[in-house]
Amino acid sequence: MNVRPDIFLPWNKPSIGDEEITEVTDVLRSGWLTHGPRAVQFEYEVREALGQEDSFAVSSCTAALHLGLLAAEVGIGDQVITPSLTFCAAPNAIVQTGADPVFVDVDPDTYNIDLTAAEAAITKDTKAIVVMHYGGHPCDLVGFRKLADDHGLILIEDAAHALQASRAGRRAGSVGDLTTLSFYANKVITSGEGGMLLGRASLVQRARLLGRHGIDSSVWQRHGRRNTADYEVTVPGLKAVMPDITAAVGLQQFRKLSAFTARRREIAELYTNELAGLPGLVLPTVLDGVEHGWFLYPVLIDPAACGVTRDMVSEVLRSDHLIGTSCHFKPVHTLAAYQRRECRNLLGGARIGDFLDVTNRVARQQLSLPCYPAMANDDVMRVVRALHAVLS
Ligand SMILES: Cc1ncc(COP(=O)(O)O)c(C=O)c1O
Repeated sequence: MNVRPDIFLPWNKPSIGDEEITEVTDVLRSGWLTHGPRAVQFEYEVREALGQEDSFAVSSCTAALHLGLLAAEVGIGDQVITPSLTFCAAPNAIVQTGADPVFVDVDPDTYNIDLTAAEAAITKDTKAIVVMHYGGHPCDLVGFRKLADDHGLILIEDAAHALQASRAGRRAGSVGDLTTLSFYANKVITSGEGGMLLGRASLVQRARLLGRHGIDSSVWQRHGRRNTADYEVTVPGLKAVMPDITAAVGLQQFRKLSAFTARRREIAELYTNELAGLPGLVLPTVLDGVEHGWFLYPVLIDPAACGVTRDMVSEVLRSDHLIGTSCHFKPVHTLAAYQRRECRNLLGGARIGDFLDVTNRVARQQLSLPCYPAMANDDVMRVVRALHAVLS
C-alpha cells in the first residue's frame, strides 16, 4: 500500500483569523498607520499580563534586545553572559553595542542556560546576563534573578519562545529587569514581524527614546496637539517602532494566546504519549512546577542508540513522508562571524566552544517536530507514524 501523503506538512504555520483581518482593515481605513493607539493598546495588554512596569512595541525582538542593551548602558569593555544554544539575535545585539558575548553551556535536560556555568563566567567586567527560555521551557527564573542581584548585574529575559509559560509560579518574562518578545511569523503569536521590550520603567523609557530617533515625544502624541515638527533629539537614536498595521495583528493574536497555548499543550501531550519508548529518541523534559509554552517540541536523536543521525531522520521525514522539521539551533559560537571574531573564552584560555559540551551535543542531535495550533490530531499522528517507521 502506498502511504506516502501528497500534502506537505510544514514545520510551522501561523493561525490567522477574521479578527486580525478586520482589525488591520480598520487601521488601514483609520488614517493612522504608524505607531499609535493600536500599538499603545498592545503594549498595555502584554504589560498587564506579564506584570512589568512599562512596555514598548518595536519592529522585532532583535531590535528590543539591541535597544534594551543600549538602555542598560552595555557597551565597549563590558561582558554579557548568554547561551550559545540560541538564535543569533541576542549575541549579535551584544556585539552591536561593542560588548563581548560570553557563551556558557546549557542544562542537559532543558537545554536552558546553566545557572552554575553562568555564575562561573562572571568577571569584574560582566554587566548583564541574557537568558533564553528554550522552546518555551522557562529557565531557572528565581536562580537567575538572585544571581543578577547578588552581583549587581542587569538580567534580560529573551522570552521569544515563552510568552505563556511559567516556573514555580513565576511567569517567564516577568522577572528580568528587561524582557524581550518576538512576534516573528513562526512564533507563538505573530504580527508577521514585530517584537516588544518590557521591564523597569526607567530602562524602557530610555529604550523608547532610543527607538524613535532620540526624539522626546511620539508622532502620535504630537499629532493634532502640537506641530509635528515641534520636537527635540536628545540622544542620537535608532528607528524601531511597531506600526499600528502590525500592532493590529499582534493585538488580536495576543487575545488568542491562551487558546493557542492550550492547543500546543494538547499536541505536546499526544507526542509524548505516542513517542514514548522509541529507541534513540529522547523526549523533552518538563521540570516540576513548569507550565511549558511548547513553542518547540524538541527531541534528540541519539545515533548510538538507533543507528541513524538527526540529519538522516530529518531528510527521510522530508523526502519520504513530506514532513517539515527544524533544528534549534546552530550554536552561535560555530557561526562564521563568531569563528572569525575574537570571541574570547574568559574561563582560562581554552578555545571558544571547547567547554560547551552539552551545547555541542544537543546541537548535533536536536530536532524540532511540527507543533502549532493549526495542526489537527491527524497531522500529529502522521508525524508519530513516520517516526515509528524511521526509528523502529
Ligand atoms: C530565542 C530568540 N530570540 C530572538 C529571536 C529574534 O526574533 P525577531 O525575528 O523578532 O528579531 C528569535 C527568532 O527566531 C529567537 O528564537
